Amino acid sequence: MSSTPPPDATGSGSGSAVDAPNLDFAGTTPYEDYVQADVLTHLQHLRSDDPGEMVFLVTTQVMELWFTVIVHEWETASRALREDRLPVAVDALKRSVRELEALNHSWRPLAQLTPAQFNAYRGALGEGSGFQSAMYRRMEFLLGEKSASMLVPHRGAPRVHAELEKALHEPSLYDEVLGFLARRGLPVPASVLGRDLAQRYEPSPQVEAVWAALYAEPEADGNAELVRLGEALSDVAELVWRWRNDHLVATRRAMGSKTGTGGSAGVAWLEKRAQKNVFPELWTARSHV
Ligand code: HEM
Repeated sequence: MSSTPPPDATGSGSGSAVDAPNLDFAGTTPYEDYVQADVLTHLQHLRSDDPGEMVFLVTTQVMELWFTVIVHEWETASRALREDRLPVAVDALKRSVRELEALNHSWRPLAQLTPAQFNAYRGALGEGSGFQSAMYRRMEFLLGEKSASMLVPHRGAPRVHAELEKALHEPSLYDEVLGFLARRGLPVPASVLGRDLAQRYEPSPQVEAVWAALYAEPEADGNAELVRLGEALSDVAELVWRWRNDHLVATRRAMGSKTGTGGSAGVAWLEKRAQKNVFPELWTARSHV
């Protein structure tokens, strides 16, 4: 069913022949049915009267959405590697690089908070902290940063807990990369391939040697596409490191060395977290090329 739009809705103003968009829908709009914008834009339940709280909450929600997209890409890449479909994996990793850039740009509205500005709503956050973000934890698990104790905060939320527990025991993206390299005939040690997947990935000198050999001879038969995989993973690692550091600096500006709402030592704790290398051998191998 369509009807003639009122004159001011055509967007043309002077009776041009350009077709105007449909205005008439029996129920909710098809846009709403797909995007659920009405749900999304009514999830901002503010806890203070401070006008600056809105952008803090929405930035956090936007980052959660990016975490969700990035987890999706890395799970796509992991599955593709398991099935030896390298181009599909590299495409997903490259998409995730653009998405990580967008994620990192979303620090801008929070990057220069002063302590007084942050204090205006900090009390309203109670013990809430990004440390309790389950989607961020899934990102870290996919990067190989596994830890069973990170499930503990989610004991009261069965679906979240179950998803995290599954992710804890599944191979990380890096485990899938190393499995793929082994099937390509590269000497990834059995101890790495058979490692306890629920434990944090520990760097291995033999894996470092595998990357060093690939990077030393990028033109050799079959090496070029593996070096491209290594570079896509390095881009991911660098941007994750940048996210951690932007978070650290924003936190230092907003609250100095106070303890965090999540109960940690705050900046001192985040500094330790930011030092962790993602895909460690991809960085150390460079010294041997
Ligand atoms: C300027 C505002 C922010 C400050 C001052 C801040 C502060 C902190 C602090 C002190 C911690 C350590 C845990 C604790 O004791 O709470 C933490 C952890 C964390 N925050 Fe923030 N945060 C800010 C913004 C954000 C935003 C917008 C996000 C997006 C989701 C976020 C995500 C996280 C995550 C994921 C962790 C855990 C990191 C890890 O496990 O290594 N934070 N934050």
